[in-house]
Amino acid sequence: MKDKAAYVHRMFSAIASRYDLLNTLLSFHRDKYWRTFTVSSLGLRGDEMVLDVATGTGKLAQELHRRIGRKGKVVGIDFCKKMLYEAKAKASDVELVLATSEKAPFPDNTFDCATIGFALRNVPDVERMLLETTRVVKMGGKVVCLEFSRPRHHVLQKIYRLYLFIILPFMGWLISGDKEAYLYLPCSIMEFYEPVQLQRIMQNIDLKDVHFHTLTLGVVAIHTGTKRS
Ligand SMILES: C[S@@+](CC[C@H](N)C(=O)[O-])C[C@H]1O[C@@H](n2cnc3c(N)ncnc32)[C@H](O)[C@@H]1O
Repeated sequence: MKDKAAYVHRMFSAIASRYDLLNTLLSFHRDKYWRTFTVSSLGLRGDEMVLDVATGTGKLAQELHRRIGRKGKVVGIDFCKKMLYEAKAKASDVELVLATSEKAPFPDNTFDCATIGFALRNVPDVERMLLETTRVVKMGGKVVCLEFSRPRHHVLQKIYRLYLFIILPFMGWLISGDKEAYLYLPCSIMEFYEPVQLQRIMQNIDLKDVHFHTLTLGVVAIHTGTKRS
């Protein structure tokens, strides 16, 4: 893809108002559990300052805010204004910042920890996004990434592919009116790194103790790493 960032920006601008509904329907409501698990991986005390990178409509940021309450603070950044409008309508207590995740407008070591939900697949340079996120996290703080993956079992893989390439684009098109976005989604999932490959990428930047969990038969993977001191 020639200019992935511009393509992704256009795509999320087009589907912003239907994004949450489609997420819930197409994941059979598992997305709530995936986000809850992601937030649990941070082991929050409740007074932290947390960054949610590529926050989109703010679903993960809301879950973070639920855990933290008023003693801490959640900041969400995203480069798509329309996604942030949706987030603003839902999460008034989350600070939303229009910015690209490759150049986060925060000093080094600002946040206690950070999350990246379903965004690594969508950027031209995964390493750069991870490096920039890690830069703004304090030493000893966690970076947790929630991303789609693929089941390992070959029968499940066949069923998953059928779902991804036939059912999902059809439902996505029906509900959002956007055919392209829901053709892009399965391709981006199939082309993304295996969980062990992403683990290695995270280990090669400033993160230690990198480990991952797969959920829902391997449909998603949650990677956790800790910024080196
Ligand atoms: C699939 S959505 C995920 C939204 C949210 N994190 C969630 O869990 O539902 C991906 C989001 O990443 C944002 N995004 C993609 N590339 C970005 C970049 N380079 N900088 C900031 N945001 C980006 C898109 O605008 C979109 O809102």
